[in-house]
This record gives sequence, C-alpha cells and structure tokens, in this order.
Amino acid sequence: MKIVVIGGTGLIGSKLVKNFRERGHEVLAAAPNTGVNTITREGLAEAMDGAQIVVDVANAPVWEDKAVLEFFETSGRNLLAAEAAAGVRHHVALSIVGSERLPDNGYFRAKVAQENLIKASGIPYTILRATQFFEFVGGIAQSGIVGEEIRLSPALMQPIASDDVAAALADVALAPPVNGTLEVAGPEAIPLDELVRRFFRATRDTRKVVPDVHARYFGAVLDDQSLTPGKDPRIGAIRFEDWLGQQATH
Ligand SMILES: NC(=O)c1ccc[n+]([C@@H]2O[C@H](COP(=O)([O-])OP(=O)(O)OC[C@H]3O[C@@H](n4cnc5c(N)ncnc54)[C@H](OP(=O)(O)O)[C@@H]3O)[C@@H](O)[C@H]2O)c1
Repeated sequence: MKIVVIGGTGLIGSKLVKNFRERGHEVLAAAPNTGVNTITREGLAEAMDGAQIVVDVANAPVWEDKAVLEFFETSGRNLLAAEAAAGVRHHVALSIVGSERLPDNGYFRAKVAQENLIKASGIPYTILRATQFFEFVGGIAQSGIVGEEIRLSPALMQPIASDDVAAALADVALAPPVNGTLEVAGPEAIPLDELVRRFFRATRDTRKVVPDVHARYFGAVLDDQSLTPGKDPRIGAIRFEDWLGQQATH
C-alpha cells in the first residue's frame, strides 16, 4: 500500500515516514526538496499516482497572518484536487486542539480554513488535532518576551512529544477514515508559565517568567479550556520531564 506524507521531511513528517517504513509500508516523503510542492503543484500529480493514503503534515514557511492563511488554503486546495483525481481513499491531516476557540490567533484561523476544505472535499478523511509539541515550548517562551521579562498566561496546556503525535497519526492513517476529528494530547496539564519555567530550568536559562492572565498567546487571550483537549483524547506516554531529560543527554 502506497502512503504519501506531505511535509515528510519535517519534524512530524520524518518520524511518521520512519514509523510507516518500520511497519512495512511503501512511503513517499513529499516536500519541496524531494520535488513535491503543494503550492506550485510541482510533482504533485506524480506523487499521488497509486497512493491510497495521504497524510498532510506540511507547515507554512511564514507565519504572518495573511501568508499562513494563503499557504494552508492554497496547499489544501491543490492537494485535495490532486487526491480526488488520483482516487485517494483516506486523507489525514494534523491540526491543533482548540483551533476554532481562538479566532484572534491567525495561525489557528488558517488551520480552521484547512480543516474546512477537507470536510468539504468529499474525500474520506480523518483530522487529528494535537496539542502543542514539547519541541515548540522554546518558541512559546520567545513569544512572551517583554523587555527583560517573559510574560505568559498561566492558562493550562497539555503539551505532547512529537514522537507520540507521529505514533498516533500512523495509527489513525492506517485505520478506516472516521470522517471526523480526533484529539491527541500529552499526559499532564501544566500552566503555560510553569511549563516555560521548567523548560528554562532544564536549559539553564535564568530569565524570569511572569504569570499574566492578559498575556496573549500569538494574539489570543487564553483560559484553561482554550488549549486543552475535550472528552476522550488519546494520551501520549512521554512526560515533559522525561523528554527534557532526554534532550539533555543528546
Ligand atoms: N507546533 C505545534 O505545537 C503543533 C501542534 C499541533 C499541530 N501542528 C501541526 O503539525 C504540522 C507539522 O508541523 P511540523 O512542526 O512537523 O512542521 P515542520 O517541521 O516545519 O515541517 C514542515 C514540512 O512541510 C514541508 N513543506 C513546506 N512547504 C511545502 C510545500 N509547499 N509543499 C509541500 N511540503 C511543504 C516542509 O518541507 P521543506 O523542509 O522542504 O520546506 C517540511 O517537510 C503543521 O501542519 C502544524 O500546523 C503543530
């Protein structure tokens, strides 16, 4: 069975490709540097030829509001049209828990647009929404810089290791399409400011993290429900402390 991973050279994509190969599947890691571009359509029809399952884990190169929306809309449209022409039987996409709850966040608006294109495509699909990756915590810290301090919301987050996201995606892709949305999250909910404090301790960063209920998360004010999963998410096994420990030994 041929599987195409769009964004197959990225953080999640490369782990997913490895996971499928270990399970004995034929996998194409599709990305601009392997000759497949969902924006220009270069190599897209050829990539889809004979594919039964397509997993989209591409990411926009620029995260400015307008650019990211254009990326996910154009990429989504081109990809779904190519899949329809090739008769792909399962489209899987990775989205973000809570996207529709934070319309003030431009990146989340773009992910909702991507999801809506999938739902309207007529192709059997599964959307897997994940919480924030542990690998993204450093970026969250940077987003809170105000002068000498880091000001961050104390709202709960339930971040997850990218290894757990890739494993969940592989399972979802190989199961029948649910024509709906599933969620996956990490094993513990942690206030966002505390998460960054733990990250700083592990990386010996001495900057002060200040809790601020008004601090915006990429444009949006958070509460404890904004970024945490709903009922019955799949839960990843890897704890943040253990992941931090593994990074230190690499
Ligand atoms: N960060 C989080 O916490 C989080 C949480 C939940 C969901 N997600 C979602 O997870 C997905 C994967 O994220 P990631 O961190 O693994 O991304 P990443 O490491 O930035 O990888 C992005 C991949 O997309 C490819 N790509 C870029 N432009 C493309 C194009 N025009 N055509 C085809 N492929 C293209 C890249 O290829 P090149 O390297 O050749 O450019 C790369 O393989 C994203 O959709 C994101 O929204 C992220």
